[in-house]
Amino acid sequence: MTINIDGKALADEIVQSVADKVTLFKQKHAITPGLAVVLVGDDPASGVYVRNKIKRSEQAGLRSIEHRLSAEVSQAELDALIDALNQDSSVHGILVQLPLPSHLSDKKVIESISPAKDVDGFHPTNVGRLVTGEADLIPCTPLGCMMMLERQFVDLSGKHAVVIGRSNIVGKPMASLLLQANCTVTVVHSRTQNIEALCREADILVAAVGKPLFVKESWVKPGAVVIDVGINAIDKEVKRKLVGDVDYDAVFPHVSAITPVPGGVGPMTIACLMQNTLTAAECQLA
Ligand code: GUN
Repeated sequence: MTINIDGKALADEIVQSVADKVTLFKQKHAITPGLAVVLVGDDPASGVYVRNKIKRSEQAGLRSIEHRLSAEVSQAELDALIDALNQDSSVHGILVQLPLPSHLSDKKVIESISPAKDVDGFHPTNVGRLVTGEADLIPCTPLGCMMMLERQFVDLSGKHAVVIGRSNIVGKPMASLLLQANCTVTVVHSRTQNIEALCREADILVAAVGKPLFVKESWVKPGAVVIDVGINAIDKEVKRKLVGDVDYDAVFPHVSAITPVPGGVGPMTIACLMQNTLTAAECQLA
């Protein structure tokens, strides 16, 4: 029997556990951990993600501070806001929703956030700490994937994990985390030869390519565990529908467990952001 890994249910558990810890944190420090969320422009998908982050912050008992900036904001104005948030001791986490409009630099923004408040785990200091296994703040999507895998396998040690995609946000940090969990890790990408055969070797297959229904049933080893990071909007007879990077219906009968889209990795990413905000506050007050 294939298991449908319910990311929404696990995310609810994590948010509840963060809320319990936030209650204790408030009793101990008389401070509410604060998360500043910055949204530039009016991209509808980014707007939805930001709304969900704010809603979950409330459920976790965190104080969220939303900053909406016009799509025309200058780099200097954005830098000044981040500077002010870095200095503000009531703000423990800063998240700038990416991608930014093309006249702004994602890289400059990532590097200007204080590493202690970098709840995305994207700052080069935190990337370095992740690779050496010393990170407090780990990118939310790979962290959520690891939590789902750890539920599925008591021990990941010795498993062959194949990660499809090499982005800084998902593929690379995912590979680091799997390696730390003693997996044998292969990263495949657009220049890889014979992707399909490599994927078929995987005990754990993590798809993060951003291509709808890219992974077919012939790509998976029977009994594998499949984590689908993709969230792709496709038009299906006029109506828009969300699908993953994996052809869920075709793959499902062949694997031991798989995450659905929606309701898999997406809710876990936001739950991990709540966890990271609490971790950032704890580290700042330690
Ligand atoms: N855009 C898509 N994913 C992410 C993420 O994890 N963090 C931020 N800041 N922006 C994103």
